[in-house]
Amino acid sequence: MDMSNLHLTHHFDVIIVGSGGAGLSLALSLPEHFNIAVLAKSSLTDASTFYAQGGVAAVLDETDSIQQHIDDTMIAGVHLCEMDAVKHTVEGGKPSVDFLLKHGVQFTLDEQEQLHLTREGGHSQRRIIHAADATGRAISTTLVQRAQEKDNITIFEDYIAIDRICSQKLGLADQANRALGLYALDEKTEKVHTFLAPFTALACGGAMKAYLYTSNPDIATGDGIAMAYRAGCRVANMEFNQFHPTCLYHPQARSLLITEAMRGEGAYLRLPDGERFLLRFDERAELAPRDIVARAIDYEIKRLGIRHVWLDITHKDADFVKTHFPTLYTRLLELGIDITQDMIPVVPAAHYTCGGVVVDENSQTDIQGLYAIGETSYTGLHGANRMASNSLLECFVYGISAARHIETHFEGSYQSPSVPAWDDSQVTNPDEDVVILQNWDELRQTMWNYVGIVRTTKRLQRALHRIEMLKKEIAEYYQDYQVSKNLIELRNLVLVSEMIVRCAIERKESRGLHFTLDYPQLLPELRKTVLIPPSFKVEQVLVNTAEA
Ligand code: FAD
Ligand code: SIN
Repeated sequence: MDMSNLHLTHHFDVIIVGSGGAGLSLALSLPEHFNIAVLAKSSLTDASTFYAQGGVAAVLDETDSIQQHIDDTMIAGVHLCEMDAVKHTVEGGKPSVDFLLKHGVQFTLDEQEQLHLTREGGHSQRRIIHAADATGRAISTTLVQRAQEKDNITIFEDYIAIDRICSQKLGLADQANRALGLYALDEKTEKVHTFLAPFTALACGGAMKAYLYTSNPDIATGDGIAMAYRAGCRVANMEFNQFHPTCLYHPQARSLLITEAMRGEGAYLRLPDGERFLLRFDERAELAPRDIVARAIDYEIKRLGIRHVWLDITHKDADFVKTHFPTLYTRLLELGIDITQDMIPVVPAAHYTCGGVVVDENSQTDIQGLYAIGETSYTGLHGANRMASNSLLECFVYGISAARHIETHFEGSYQSPSVPAWDDSQVTNPDEDVVILQNWDELRQTMWNYVGIVRTTKRLQRALHRIEMLKKEIAEYYQDYQVSKNLIELRNLVLVSEMIVRCAIERKESRGLHFTLDYPQLLPELRKTVLIPPSFKVEQVLVNTAEA
């Protein structure tokens, strides 16, 4: 072994990539004698979790029931959700809320000092706990603080995981394909470190930076999905990308989300002439599931040649608005919009990756010792369209389940096989960063224009053609030059974009978030789209919607 690399090799019991709701709920649910690494490619709170506004869905009110939450999830997901995953998640609601309360997350209380429940699209009941309109900030800062207090958790900020290390890739033929760890770039020193452990969890969030306009923070480049796929894991349902109906349309604040809870508390969507147009599209109007609302807005914007529609909460009492939406009230006031008197200009933007790495109820992937949690994973919960506030819930339920599973299967005396250090002896310093930026822009523009809210087979084929060219160019660049964060992310984003397009081409119907003019009907059979590595073989597999 090259002794100069020893200090770049780290041994842990569990490596967790990601410091969002998924990664930290796993880290904080593992026993304290476990030696845990948490990696984040930016600061710990720079994650979608931090930006969540609406809240966490859970059955807490006595007028609500597990069955109603299951039914609502199924309807929002256009019945493509897998029943065992829906049950597992919904039943995990109360324990997840207990987990958050135990760690000290402060949620908004009602006049009786009980958790205040708000409402969002698709939910037939008030069942969303929240911290005013900045729920993610409350959850993220609290869980990060708890993780920082733990002696058994070592945090590696600004470390970007590059690829998984698996036994098969190392040619260790005597073992099943086991996860052994990963390589990660320390952005500050520009050195690649080796992390080794019997268990690794990918909790890297989603991939909506694949689109030009998105509500997501910059970290959402699909790294977990791409790494798992390259390592040999199946990925499913990547055609279902959720566009949030109401992101602010403003030159100075491109990706500011306006929470769906505002519609839940009575806001209307209006056209320039004041019409409440959603009533023409769905009897649930502003509280129809997101796919329907986003498509209706997209339709009206194109029909009328306008740049945005309006979200209107001016008819509500000003104090009510300020109390329920204090963060948005202040932020929008800074931009010259007083939401108690002015309507808000809004457009849809890419928001959530419903597909991901195929996992079971314990968050286990196809590779032994490798877990995927949160937006990186495909559990089967969301089907063709995620219901609002079900995703944070999924992060906590599956983070806690993964912890239980790892604890049960931990053998104590693990001896990692010998793993070669990262070899960059054959590469040179990148001389043309502009190539990366150009490819990045081209990719996101292509995805927005050809793989958006309304699709056609011709546009998808065009997108695939361009993505394949970009992928080849990026692969050549990756082979020749030293890795950088930009390059790692772009390599992942182009692979994930290819997955999205291949899955979209395969689905010959319009269901939920996948709407194509060439196949406007619903097919009778419920099938998920599964991508099998390394050849992108696509299978349409029947979904299990039956009660156990
Ligand atoms: P994230 O919270 O995104 O965390 C990903 C982590 O992975 C980060 O720490 C990142 O640094 C790290 N990472 C990624 N790649 C690498 C790598 N290669 N190496 C090292 N680290 C890496 N859902 C709800 O249920 N309710 C809501 O109210 C709600 N509101 C939302 C509002 C906004 C604006 C957005 C963007 C999303 C919202 N969602 C909401 C969705 C929800 O927030 C996300 O699905 C959820 O937070 C994802 O959590 P996660 O832990 O899977 O990923
Ligand atoms: C929102 O607050 O509108 C986002 C909720 C979600 O994405 O679940």
